[in-house]
Amino acid sequence: MSETVLVTGATGRLGRAVVPKLAEAGYEVRGMSRAARSGGGATWVVADLTTGQGLAEALEGVGAVVHLASAPYKGRYTERVEVEGTRRLCAAAREAGVGHLLYTSIIGADRVPWGYFGTKVRTEEVVRAGGVPWSIVRAAQFHGFVDQALGLVARAGLLIVDPGVMAQPVDVRDVAERLVRRVREGPGGRTEDFGGPEILSMEEAARQWLAARRVRRPVVRVRLPGRLGAAFRGGHLTTRATPAGVITWERYLQEHP
Ligand SMILES: NC(=O)c1ccc[n+]([C@@H]2O[C@H](COP(=O)([O-])OP(=O)(O)OC[C@H]3O[C@@H](n4cnc5c(N)ncnc54)[C@H](OP(=O)(O)O)[C@@H]3O)[C@@H](O)[C@H]2O)c1
Repeated sequence: MSETVLVTGATGRLGRAVVPKLAEAGYEVRGMSRAARSGGGATWVVADLTTGQGLAEALEGVGAVVHLASAPYKGRYTERVEVEGTRRLCAAAREAGVGHLLYTSIIGADRVPWGYFGTKVRTEEVVRAGGVPWSIVRAAQFHGFVDQALGLVARAGLLIVDPGVMAQPVDVRDVAERLVRRVREGPGGRTEDFGGPEILSMEEAARQWLAARRVRRPVVRVRLPGRLGAAFRGGHLTTRATPAGVITWERYLQEHP
């Protein structure tokens, strides 16, 4: 019988790419959500990381957990889902005898002084100390996230960019493939970076976005101040790690008109 893999955050940006790839690779996929769901190549369980409700049932008979659930930029709720929820997940997974907990963090989480990144580092620590064999993949910014962020910024009537900030956007399909491979390889107690195929300045990324979306906005260059600006300009959102994704920002833009 094939191994059952529980995917937390299975309805999210990355989760929606991971579920079909795990199923294609022959795993029994169990998707976790706070709401009742059906379809999409998985069987579904309802559970909430902030209360622990449904977790024990969700983990029954599970060999590996791909832990993607998160709630960024929601203040105290973010901490409750990521840090406290992950602690709860680890305890329940330990109890259930899960063999591998794979967590997704962000490249530069430990080097960029940004609130959400701090939450990711604290959650990584919970995973490492959680008593379940683990691995961590730190991904770069997802194409869909950059697309959405630029759309929001452009609503102001102009695009403000710091041309010194470098990014390495990655496609969720590539991240999903990497995660499936990590599941197959098993836990290694290893933290690895996974970025996109090219390092772009935010200005280049923004100009490609404007052209693809046929949006006309002036691009205003502003140097981000302080430690945060220095960390972004210091290349901490990028990695030289290989392998990297293969789907470029340009290809993503063409495929998502
Ligand atoms: N977005 C990026 O650019 C990026 C870059 C690098 C790494 N990452 C990391 O990759 C992972 C996936 O990110 P994403 O962008 O795919 O996330 P997302 O689209 O924001 O999805 C978040 C998921 O978390 C689940 N969730 C929220 N609160 C929950 C709770 N209390 N209990 C259980 N589940 C809960 C939601 O499921 P329901 O609503 O169905 O309950 C949803 O499926 C995260 O760890 C993120 O930090 C993201």
